[in-house]
Amino acid sequence: FNVPALKNEPVKSYAPGTPERAELKKALADARSKTIEIPQYIGSEEIYSGNKKKVSPPHDHQHILGYFHEGTKEDVAKAIDAALEARKSWATLTWEQRAAIFLKAAELIAGPYRAEMNAATMLGQSKNAYQAEIDSACEIIDFLRLNVNFMRDIYEEQPVSSEGVWNRMEYRPLEGFIFAITPFNFTAIAGNLPAAPALMGNVVIWKPAFTQVYAANVIMKVFKEAGLPDGVINMVLADGPVAGEVIFKHPDFSGVHFTGSTKVFQTIWKTIGENIATYKTFPRIVGETGGKDFVLAHKSANAKEVATGLIRGAFEYQGQKCSAASRAYIPSNLWEEVKRFMLADLVEIKMGGVEDFSNFVNAVIDEKSFDKIASYIDGAKASADTEIVAGGNFDKSKGYFVEPTIIRAFKPDYVTLCEEIFGPVLTIYVYDENEFEQIIPVIDATSPYALTGAVFAKDRYAIEYATRHLVNAAGNFYINDKPTGAVVGQQPFGGARASGTNDKAGSVLNLLRWVSPRALKETL
Ligand code: SER
Repeated sequence: FNVPALKNEPVKSYAPGTPERAELKKALADARSKTIEIPQYIGSEEIYSGNKKKVSPPHDHQHILGYFHEGTKEDVAKAIDAALEARKSWATLTWEQRAAIFLKAAELIAGPYRAEMNAATMLGQSKNAYQAEIDSACEIIDFLRLNVNFMRDIYEEQPVSSEGVWNRMEYRPLEGFIFAITPFNFTAIAGNLPAAPALMGNVVIWKPAFTQVYAANVIMKVFKEAGLPDGVINMVLADGPVAGEVIFKHPDFSGVHFTGSTKVFQTIWKTIGENIATYKTFPRIVGETGGKDFVLAHKSANAKEVATGLIRGAFEYQGQKCSAASRAYIPSNLWEEVKRFMLADLVEIKMGGVEDFSNFVNAVIDEKSFDKIASYIDGAKASADTEIVAGGNFDKSKGYFVEPTIIRAFKPDYVTLCEEIFGPVLTIYVYDENEFEQIIPVIDATSPYALTGAVFAKDRYAIEYATRHLVNAAGNFYINDKPTGAVVGQQPFGGARASGTNDKAGSVLNLLRWVSPRALKETL
């Protein structure tokens, strides 16, 4: 059996004149010219409930891409039955048989489905071609391929035997079913959260975010075409609380694989706690939640590198990455230079729909998000503790567009330095260049999150000092680089504190959460 090497899928350029650009343009035009219907996938059935909800591009909210059919409590119950039925055979397959299906899915996305996956992500989630390529092509392919490599490592880890005794470890799937709840911002996460437990032999109820169903539907089509047996992954489109009502009360519920907000994850954890005596087994609770990710520059840093890291870290995908640079601490000696470089970059940046590949910034996901981001910007405009350095405008008449906005806050506990905004808003705090050691505990204490962070410095002492003293402030810590863009197999991703359980997506650590090992001893 050919286990894939630990090698990442190359990123295609989509430069003018390339065949991939022509294919992607065609896929975008095709998708825009159609109105599709998105069903729930439960067992062998595609269920069109008739309760239709509109799907539109966030950057063009009057255009209709299609409708998804919302599900009910009964549909969720039916999905659980289908999953438990599928488990009877799925859990008995060899790991190579399961791996073959997900490896085929990776090949389908790498080849025939690449343009469709990217077009769906671009239109449904308002993501530009490059951001879609690194997400709905490369990252999902990497998860699917590299997890097979990590799975093999797990199964190969066996106990020692002694004379007259043969010991083995059997990595059984969990008894019951897993609930995967996925966010809008990464198609790769939407694919990986159901796929990783299924790869380890589990059956899954998958609830994608309603704002991501357009690409989720393509993922489901790929899994089916790759040969995933009916019922192994069931995509339900019931509202979160509706699905939760059935799932968290079911005796066979055995784990949740979640990415989303801290608040929702806390509610899930509490609900599981309230129902704990109902379950046959203690459920696995795995979640990646919010972030308030920082960039700390030292006085020895290169101002241009800091500025580029901030522009990319804060504004790529409109700041809607849980890893986005949303607060930065800049020493007084570098501030004017960093500001000049950032403003020069912002002049070049274009905002608009994804169909024009020269737009770097597209729309934020929906009206609720737009209004929340706008209220933080309005608050900053009205505050005496801030100055708007760049941007500050927003307009939802055609799409949910928010200009990349830089706020300078004069107090280190100003609200936009502490709370997650999930939009293209970067807040800067300028500190006295000689108070590097003093600013570190402020960074650590002003936000409850600990997902990603970065330090920019040329001075090795400063790098070591920040790395050591911010040890619990980020699960992914970057030195002289932006805090976004973790690559599967290179920077296993996740954070602690209010940012989640830090079970590192795309690694042995994550896959181990989806098995219940049995130690076997045989006396010879
Ligand atoms: N993995 C993404 C990043 O690092 C976030 O989910 O940006």
